[in-house]
Amino acid sequence: MKNGKFGFGIIGCGVIGPWHARAISAVEKSYTAAVCDIIPERANSLGDEYAKEAKRYENYLDLIKDPAVDIVSICTPSGLHSEMVIAAANAGKHILCEKPIDIQLDKIDRMLEATMKNRVKIAGVFQRRTYQDSQKIKNALDQGLLGKMVLGDAYLKYYRSQAYYQSANWRGTWELDGGGALMNQGIHGIDLLLWFMGDVEMVYAKAGALVRNIAVEDTAIALLQYKNGAYGVIQGATSVNPGEATRLELNGKYGTIIFEESKITRWAVTQEEDGLANDQEIQPEKIDHSAISDPKDIGLFGHIRHIEDLIQAIETDGEPMVTGESARKSVELILAIYESARQGREVYLSR
Ligand SMILES: NC(=O)c1ccc[n+]([C@@H]2O[C@H](COP(=O)([O-])OP(=O)(O)OC[C@H]3O[C@@H](n4cnc5c(N)ncnc54)[C@H](O)[C@@H]3O)[C@@H](O)[C@H]2O)c1
Repeated sequence: MKNGKFGFGIIGCGVIGPWHARAISAVEKSYTAAVCDIIPERANSLGDEYAKEAKRYENYLDLIKDPAVDIVSICTPSGLHSEMVIAAANAGKHILCEKPIDIQLDKIDRMLEATMKNRVKIAGVFQRRTYQDSQKIKNALDQGLLGKMVLGDAYLKYYRSQAYYQSANWRGTWELDGGGALMNQGIHGIDLLLWFMGDVEMVYAKAGALVRNIAVEDTAIALLQYKNGAYGVIQGATSVNPGEATRLELNGKYGTIIFEESKITRWAVTQEEDGLANDQEIQPEKIDHSAISDPKDIGLFGHIRHIEDLIQAIETDGEPMVTGESARKSVELILAIYESARQGREVYLSR
């Protein structure tokens, strides 16, 4: 802590690292104490632009050891997250970890164990949960506003060029990206879908690389059965051109809510047993797009909220908005989708 502010150490200064630095400096109780990248120019340019005083490191273990670092922001390729989280937890540091929290369940379980054992907080980043409209939907569904849920669908159609996949050697690989259209991009919408609808019991899926030259999927479809008995579908892609606003459709016995990107675009509910749901008028607000066709088209608000939320969890010894356990759920579902596509059969989720 310096002058009552938490010192953040950012590991990984590529695309998303600078968002963390900007969000950290926008929050009153935080500052960037250190930055790290195996490519020193990246750490230097992030530091020069957003955190001049920050120490610069090439080895993340040195950043973690730095006493000025209270909280570590993990912004490295997805398959490296667990080793960095475990090292940070063992050094007694709190952690803000980019999505996906990691790409394999056994690694995720080890990192969550390390945070529990060392009594440090870990918060996952899923910035769409921080939006006002997402929270309105979550509250409505938790209160049973739509009655028995029957369908929960997510349409997550992004555009990513072949050049995007060649822009860093981990992109589109099983080893470090852990998958493609679902594990990297669609995971934002899948996390929301699970948050709104609850856990999935069974999936049946198809997935493949239809247009990009990559090992992982650029296109996937999955049929879902939720534990609450509802059905659903997921369509995820990075192969469509030019990409569409991501859309979640939530249907219950008493109504329908549709959520596009960051806004509710339909809210129709009835309270009568056999009544037809009435549409509420929706103010035509600008929808903030989140990286549908451009990976850098990301708002800052969500990361600011995540940082404020983690600091509050540390100060009150409470839970962050996205706990490690809840960040695990989307990875578990996506891995089950991949398993189903590989095996050509239904896959049941284990817990
Ligand atoms: N929340 C979001 O909207 C969002 C957006 C983009 C990326 N992400 C996530 O952030 C993570 C990083 O993605 P990105 O697009 O910024 O990737 P990137 O390739 O642009 O940046 C990753 C950086 O990590 C560095 N790095 C690699 N290994 C390292 C190591 N051992 N020690 C220190 N630095 C190391 C690389 O040199 C690179 O600069 C991924 O998990 C991704 O899913 C989240």
